[in-house]
Amino acid sequence: MCGIVGYTGKSSAAEFLLNGLEKLEYRGYDSAGIAVLHDKSFEISKTIERIETLFAQTSNGNNIKGSLGIGHTRWATHGAPSLENSHPHLSNDRKFAVVHNGIIENYSVLKQELIDDGFQFTSETDTEVIPMLLQKYYKGDIKAAVTATLKKLEGSFALGIICADSPETLIAAKRFSPLILGIGENCNLVASDVTALVSHTKNVIYLEDGETAFLTPASVEIYDSEGAMANKRISVIDWDISSAQKSGYDHFMMKEIMEQPDCVKKTLESYNKNGEITLGNIKLTEQKLKKINKIEIVACGSAYHAGAVGKYVLEELLRIPVNVELASEFRYRNPIIDSNTLTVVISQSGETADSLAALKEAKKMGSHILAVVNVVGSSIAKAADDVLYTRAGPEIAVATTKGYSTQLIVLYLLGIWAANILGTANKEQLKALNDELPLIPQKISKILSQKSLIQDIAQDFANAKSIFFIGRNIDYAVSLEASLKLKEISYIHSEAYAAGELKHGTISLIEDGTPVVALCGCKRLHDKTLSNIKEVGARGARVLACVADRDFNFKDDKIKTLNFPATNPLLIASLEVIPFQLLAYYVALQNGCDIDKPRNLAKSVTVE
Ligand code: F6R
Repeated sequence: MCGIVGYTGKSSAAEFLLNGLEKLEYRGYDSAGIAVLHDKSFEISKTIERIETLFAQTSNGNNIKGSLGIGHTRWATHGAPSLENSHPHLSNDRKFAVVHNGIIENYSVLKQELIDDGFQFTSETDTEVIPMLLQKYYKGDIKAAVTATLKKLEGSFALGIICADSPETLIAAKRFSPLILGIGENCNLVASDVTALVSHTKNVIYLEDGETAFLTPASVEIYDSEGAMANKRISVIDWDISSAQKSGYDHFMMKEIMEQPDCVKKTLESYNKNGEITLGNIKLTEQKLKKINKIEIVACGSAYHAGAVGKYVLEELLRIPVNVELASEFRYRNPIIDSNTLTVVISQSGETADSLAALKEAKKMGSHILAVVNVVGSSIAKAADDVLYTRAGPEIAVATTKGYSTQLIVLYLLGIWAANILGTANKEQLKALNDELPLIPQKISKILSQKSLIQDIAQDFANAKSIFFIGRNIDYAVSLEASLKLKEISYIHSEAYAAGELKHGTISLIEDGTPVVALCGCKRLHDKTLSNIKEVGARGARVLACVADRDFNFKDDKIKTLNFPATNPLLIASLEVIPFQLLAYYVALQNGCDIDKPRNLAKSVTVE
């Protein structure tokens, strides 16, 4: 979704802004622009194409002089993608330039008032009211104008503001949309996402809701919502610059797929000290845990699919009912929740609007909130009672891979940790899981080392119109993710179905040659899934069965098989998903799709 960058310093603002916007491309956008102050006026460059067009339009930034500037990638909500609607937006007197993420809910009322005051608008955006309000309230004191403007705004925003009268001041304001300050040497920076900052600095300040920052190259002043000076801590990001680069891979998605053994290992190691699982100083004490009689898992997209796996694992280990639900449904359902409910919110970005709203809903009802999040300091991490961080590092490709894999690991660890305390699983079972978990990274590596096999299989899928994924139990949960991965990046229609449910309607869609992928990792349900394979085979389906080593012999030449290493039955998702990430990648590659930036999708979905 939309992205913001801002620079005040001694060097070229355009250079930082363009490179920063390039780092934010992964979030998804349909137009972009920069404004740099030079000789008391703004130089603007905008595009409705890719950031590389901005580089070309400005000769890599060399044509735009000045060392104060803001930039933006826009994902259209109010008004189509167009140059007029793209940011930065200017006030009528061209004294203020503004970039904005979020939605100004009362913009139409404000716009009418401003039109009545004689202001002229050139865009359809909600954002344009902001520079006009700044102009209206500006009487020579920028801080006063910003304060008066912010008071008028309803909704969510992260703002970058510059004023032609103040050649060094970069202003940042946050309410409900993420915004981070980068503390550099001879420069200070603003970005909506740390990936735009890591190549310049690792020292950051996370703004809180209601805070406004005034930055110059040498100073940082932050005020809270009451206007009092806020004392903020500088955090040091542990992501390095290579994590935001492709490092020789053609696509971030493949790089991130290949990083999974390492990310899974790091996640495991951060909660496993000398063979013992410890979740740090979490507020979910033994006493509290013992009172929990229900677990709600809420999330969106792939994070929801990780939760779907978590349901099977947690119910098995804890014997506590687990409900997994899409955050967008949960938040408007009036769920039955109280202080004995544990709500687990899963989110890679930590900024997904629906997941954050669901979290707040559950919190209001007294539930203890445990968040499984990748991005440190993100809104969901801050709003939760406890956070268990995944250690995936920055995930740039829109289609999540390592984010999902590390979420699974945290859910397993949560299950084992809680089962140990509650005594709900037998010691041998927990030991078997503990012994197997450290082997998962190398087993993932083994699958990855055979990726060319999956590249071959992908050829059979590239021309398909529709593909079905079927499975039972955890296999079904993985089918959901396998199907999403394929459709989101290859644009081939696919559906995931509980294998036993097919004959209740969907089987009518199976015809001669329809590809059906049967996930058969759950050994105890092999015979059941095999019956479903026979059902679709009898109707002409081309079946690819995914099985653990040594587990399954189909004795049927028509069924192609794809093997993954055997593991503990509760952990199969971690291995079984890998071939399908690769399959989606290779099918999309074969079909010439934009793998890292699939059409219409955004990395972090900050609107509901
Ligand atoms: C799919 C994908 C999305 C996200 C979903 C939730 O590959 O990435 O479905 O999983 O938008 O995002 P987070 O985890 O950031 O809350």
